[in-house]
Amino acid sequence: MSHQTVIVLDFGGQYNQLIARRVRECGVYCEVKPYKTPLAELKAMDPIGFIFTGGPNSVYQEGSPKVDPAIFTLGVPVLGICYGCQLMAHTLGGLVTAAQDDTAREYGKTETFFDTDCTLFRGLPAQSVTWMSHGDYMAKVPDGFALAAHTAACPNAAIADESRKFYGVQFHPEVNHTENGLAMIRNFLYGACGAAGDWTMGDYKQTAIRSVREKVGEGKVLLALSGGVDSSVAAALLAEAVGSQLTCVFVDHGLMRLNEGDEVEAAFSKWDINFVRVNAEEHFLGKLAGVTDPETKRKIIGEEFIRVFEREAKKIGQVDFLVQGTIYPDVIESGLGDAAVIKSHHNVGGLPDYVDFKEIIEPLRLLFKDEVRQLGRELGLPDYLVNRQPFPGPGLAIRVIGEITRDKLDILRLADFIFRDEAVKAGEDKNLDQYFAVLTNMRSVGVMGDGRTYDYTLALRAVVTDDFMTAAWARIPYDLLDRISTRIVNEVPKINRVVYDITTKPPATVEWE
Ligand code: XMP
Repeated sequence: MSHQTVIVLDFGGQYNQLIARRVRECGVYCEVKPYKTPLAELKAMDPIGFIFTGGPNSVYQEGSPKVDPAIFTLGVPVLGICYGCQLMAHTLGGLVTAAQDDTAREYGKTETFFDTDCTLFRGLPAQSVTWMSHGDYMAKVPDGFALAAHTAACPNAAIADESRKFYGVQFHPEVNHTENGLAMIRNFLYGACGAAGDWTMGDYKQTAIRSVREKVGEGKVLLALSGGVDSSVAAALLAEAVGSQLTCVFVDHGLMRLNEGDEVEAAFSKWDINFVRVNAEEHFLGKLAGVTDPETKRKIIGEEFIRVFEREAKKIGQVDFLVQGTIYPDVIESGLGDAAVIKSHHNVGGLPDYVDFKEIIEPLRLLFKDEVRQLGRELGLPDYLVNRQPFPGPGLAIRVIGEITRDKLDILRLADFIFRDEAVKAGEDKNLDQYFAVLTNMRSVGVMGDGRTYDYTLALRAVVTDDFMTAAWARIPYDLLDRISTRIVNEVPKINRVVYDITTKPPATVEWE
């Protein structure tokens, strides 16, 4: 069955996949295409709407990304966001310039006033906060356009030509900081493009299964299973797509949480798939001995993972494909787009240059975490697997700050278990998207019984987030923090101080390394 399609035309902005994800959230199929895609190809997709993304350029600069002006003659509605808005204005005869003074430049949360007769803002409050990030300014809007929103600094925060169904916004409706942003996108899709809402995650599942089958044919597939949500969902998808051609390999690198290796084995050995557990603790700890730099740790673990898989693949014989549960935030944070490298997630940027498989398949590469969970439910995975909090591929290696030893790992495992145990007992786990303990390499003086101690400081980290791109620290009740802290210093040797991390992401990240 074919679906109504919206095309997100990519001009290199930070949030392009987030726009696609918002469109999917509204029940509409969408594809992200590079801005250079020939118009004939775009036309052949028979889109019901275009969304032009933001981008780092200025439209008046030579060589900045442009569109074929004929795109505006197709009779298809357009929503331009930030650079996309300026590009539309520039192409249709408006004038875009660099903001003359600082007052016309806008970054961050901005109080914005809307014309609620405009299709985009219909049914929404006349005043709310939007997320701005632009240094350019529309000095003159093109003929046929009316002003549809303004801020204190900018008279044309949004423009609209209702007759041609062209809309432009200077702010970013796709980010959570814009109140009602999703509703604005929904208004564009349903109010301007005439969307019917004919797309679901079930459709995504079918499309993904089809594309895996086409790619794999009769080949054998190896899947890197960590027991986390992403790789479990990837395993379920592949199991449905290629069944007995699939072998799931779970590498126990000795950097798992308390009892986790056994739990993963128990959960997956029940499935009707080939499941192999490789116990490689000594090997990994040997490679990591003396290493303190976070990026080096990640690269070592990423490389060793691949080598272990290659060896397992050789045992199975003739394995062509390696599947990984990489999801979209892993891709951008590892800097494979134009964005800066924040961390090399071991399953993306940490890959060695040479990988001995014909191809790597990443069926979740364009999905965000909550979409992955939705897909997992669609595939019939049990709630306890789908709702697990995420656990990073490098495991506790990036939660023991500085040098990793088995001793430190054991200390951390026990403290982390107590944190999780108390959070679950208090029912607080349901309010947390991720929560864990970090063993710092700092020691401090304490007093226990009548004696002086000089032991480690343990940090507790708990965050609330939609997509792990941004996160807030969780407001855990003090009495729960108190119980956790008391138990940890009493039950875990070599910890005499517990602190709670109260930093948002950004500027911090969720993990400490
Ligand atoms: P950060 O620390 O980047 O974490 O804010 C965002 C989310 O990603 C997880 N994370 C990883 N997951 N391999 C993974 O599979 C990695 O190398 C990795 N590093 C961080 C982190 O636990 C959080 O959920």
